[in-house]
Amino acid sequence: FKVPAVDNEPMKTYAPGSPERADLQAAIAQMEQELPFEVPIIVNGEQVKTGKLAKQLIPSDHARHLCTYHEADEATVARAIDGALAAKAAWEALPWGDRAAIFLKAADLISKKYRYKLLAATILGQGKNAWQAEIDAAAELADFFRFGVKYVEELYSQQPPKNSGGAWNRVEYRPLEGFVLAVSPFNFTAIGGNLPGTPALVGNVVVWKPSPAATYSNYLVHQILTEAGVPPGVIQFVPGPPPEVVAQAIAHRDFAALHFTGSTFVFKKLWKDIAANVDKYKGYPRIVGETGGKNFHVIHKSAEIRNAVLQSVRGAFEYQGQKCSALSRLYVSASLWKGGFKDSFLEEIAKIKVGPPQDFSNFLGPVIGKPAFDKTTGYIQKAKEAGGDILIGGSADDSKGYFVQPTVILTKDPRSITMREEIFGPVVTVYVYEDEDFDKTLDLIDTTSEYALTGGIFASERQALIQATNKLRHAAGNVYYNEKCTGAAVGQQPFGGGRASGTNDKAGSIAIFYRFVSARSIKENF
Ligand code: ALA
Repeated sequence: FKVPAVDNEPMKTYAPGSPERADLQAAIAQMEQELPFEVPIIVNGEQVKTGKLAKQLIPSDHARHLCTYHEADEATVARAIDGALAAKAAWEALPWGDRAAIFLKAADLISKKYRYKLLAATILGQGKNAWQAEIDAAAELADFFRFGVKYVEELYSQQPPKNSGGAWNRVEYRPLEGFVLAVSPFNFTAIGGNLPGTPALVGNVVVWKPSPAATYSNYLVHQILTEAGVPPGVIQFVPGPPPEVVAQAIAHRDFAALHFTGSTFVFKKLWKDIAANVDKYKGYPRIVGETGGKNFHVIHKSAEIRNAVLQSVRGAFEYQGQKCSALSRLYVSASLWKGGFKDSFLEEIAKIKVGPPQDFSNFLGPVIGKPAFDKTTGYIQKAKEAGGDILIGGSADDSKGYFVQPTVILTKDPRSITMREEIFGPVVTVYVYEDEDFDKTLDLIDTTSEYALTGGIFASERQALIQATNKLRHAAGNVYYNEKCTGAAVGQQPFGGGRASGTNDKAGSIAIFYRFVSARSIKENF
């Protein structure tokens, strides 16, 4: 059989007065009435309640919490790993078509049955506005599962092109021996689904530790996968204190792979911890990670100003700058800066309404929590101390929710701290370069930051696009011409970067699936 053609999930627009907007608002209102929820650990399909409780706060109103969740203790993590290993043989043996059907069904459940609930959980718990939640918890999540099925079909069809003599050469794509540990972030509900989903699609069993700040939406994703038919034990849902759960999993003899999205700091630490444990393992674990970014736009003198401005506003401030792909350093040619870019940029930012995302008129919501708030405001302070000029924003208020005004810093020092370090908040630093220094600026972009995730190049002269693309060969894994550096679509722009930004295994493409299989070549003589 062949899996049918797949397409990206159509996105809803939530226009004022539309039935879909009314449905989403009703789902949010209902969730607000019912919260806080109690979220158990799920091991072997059963709820485990350790009584060790933690809270997922509502970042726009931190006096309230969306859920209370049970944290896994050592015995529970051990049971989760044992249970996953016990579920492995049957899951592996399931015909590929049955695994495919489960994930296709999960995508349909997301699209048709649970869309508004998932969005409401993402809006309330992770502080996304309706449109950002739609991109993530509806479209990208469904896309990961549907395109994942297509990619796995393609993977399995990759066979040696030649037989010799009377032999038949073939390759079997076995799942890894052991279990996969998935450690997912707060900023995309879709990544919550993708990190356990991708390895499971090719027959692996997974211990999944969600981000504490996305517990409830991720729990819903787990419930959807279960309803779609993922058998008990195949994906264990194990919220808990991150360092302990993760340390226990990677110390296990059957640890086979890490599928991680989160900070560079944590990923490097886990890499070292895995190295320190290498003698314990049966094999060499696969380490797949997508981490930080310090993403750039470079605006050439030939760029179309209006487009460059609007794309830069969106790239920097959608979801409060908390996408790993968010724009955070902006290099603008002096003639454009003076010739309208600056005024138009600041004018657009001045229009941005900041407030709780449940109110659809707000474009910018809260940052995810107190540490993010302190980090963002701390960087604004450091930029001021270093002589940066705050052109707009700069203020913040955490009395009710963690709100930071969209902030633009103008710097004369292209290597100042906010040009180099990841902030993960609604702050963009601008450096204005002389038009004739375009080439030198490209060198600066390449060498200023340790990250290499995304970048946007804005020019109407094709030669400038080519020059920048060549010079910035290793400065970004995702490059956009005349478009913002966020918003990679599954099945369209494989996503990921190199250097300190990750292993660049390209989520949303066939490439990532190779990391979670261990091929076996079989030569049969007739
Ligand atoms: N894949 C997300 C984006 O490209 C992070 O914005």
